[in-house]
Amino acid sequence: MSETGLFLLTEEHEMIRQAAREFAQKEIAPVAAEFDETGDFPVNTIKKMGEMGFMGIEVPEAYGGAGMDTLAYALALEEICKVDAAHGTIMSVNNSLYCNGIMRFGTEDQKKKFARPVASGQKIGAYSLTEPMSGSDAGTMRSRALREGDHYLLNGRKSWVTSGPVADFVVVFMMTAPERMHKGITAFLIDTKLPGFVRGKKEPKLGIRASATSEIVFENYACSVENRLGEEGEGFKIAMTVLDAGRIGIAAQALGIAEAAYEAALQYAREREAFGQKIGEFQGISFKLADMKTRIEAARLLVYNAAMAKERTKKSGGRFSLEASMAKLFASETAMFVTHAALQIHGGMGYSKELPIERYFRDAKITEIYEGTSEIQRLVISRQELSQR
Ligand code: CAA
Repeated sequence: MSETGLFLLTEEHEMIRQAAREFAQKEIAPVAAEFDETGDFPVNTIKKMGEMGFMGIEVPEAYGGAGMDTLAYALALEEICKVDAAHGTIMSVNNSLYCNGIMRFGTEDQKKKFARPVASGQKIGAYSLTEPMSGSDAGTMRSRALREGDHYLLNGRKSWVTSGPVADFVVVFMMTAPERMHKGITAFLIDTKLPGFVRGKKEPKLGIRASATSEIVFENYACSVENRLGEEGEGFKIAMTVLDAGRIGIAAQALGIAEAAYEAALQYAREREAFGQKIGEFQGISFKLADMKTRIEAARLLVYNAAMAKERTKKSGGRFSLEASMAKLFASETAMFVTHAALQIHGGMGYSKELPIERYFRDAKITEIYEGTSEIQRLVISRQELSQR
């Protein structure tokens, strides 16, 4: 056992944290800037991450995963994102938005067919909820799935799908009964090799550029009834439950980005001189560092707390929405605060592509947007609080 603030880490936690740290330094650090520049999908490093067991950390070994807990997942993701958030995004969607949903709501056959190859890193999974006209208001989607005998015919356009250009399988949400609003949404497991699945335009992005994002289009895609995830009409609840888990991953990602920016700024403040002294000796810089460090440690407590809350619900049932949303809200705003301050401390060098600071700054922004904007997290937190008081 070792201690991290209030948390006792087991040997297993330390092991995966160390393994992820070493892997990120050795394999990802040398290629991160290049992939950020080209926007290409990092096929080789993602494959190696699969071999390391990072692509299905919480999935039981029997289904191809590493069989560890949510804190292990958060620790590993934090370390990967400390070096490159784009690799972290691909890892996060694979783990929490894709595998987690199938392990929680899937049948035995679905776990074997759809979770195992993705958890073991041989295939890539994606999650598709958003549409061009339905983002934060996820219950208003227009894509339709019509039952015809032993299959559904899927039609519609989904947007902002992380790993959309490369995914082998996708969990997609569509309307089966539009008149029932969110209660008319159903989840399906999609094999992207089958006819009727079309990859749409790739998004040019500010940050996490190596994580490919695109639209996906369904043109009379026939999905067999056995590939429906959960029951008809259960899709919205599945989508929300899965997003709660995903938000812990994004919070861990934001924490990793913030730590990387802070460590670089601290080092720079110790070395760089101006007006005859180290810049860290100026209060304008040292107080910034104090605020950065304090917010990072507070974010860490919220992220690990959310991971533990999710772990507890595996036995007790119930939701961990509050903990997950608080962690994502605070960690993502911390990532923005810290990367902004780190860039300012670096001055012109922070603005240059010769250092990774500007990449951290660009990568941090998405953590306030995807898997629910900061405004949506505030909505989830306040609704939960108001309904209980
Ligand atoms: N877990 C389980 N059930 C939940 C839930 C949760 N976290 N949140 C809501 N529900 C249930 C409610 O209990 C309610 O159930 P009943 O109908 O039985 O009463 C039902 O769902 C509807 O709930 P709400 O009335 O709260 O629904 P709403 O329409 O007001 O929406 C919302 C709530 C929080 C705004 C939700 O729509 C939301 O989270 N929006 C953001 C969507 C989002 O995060 N999108 C990102 C997509 S993924 C992505 O970014 C791309 C990628 O590839 C990474």
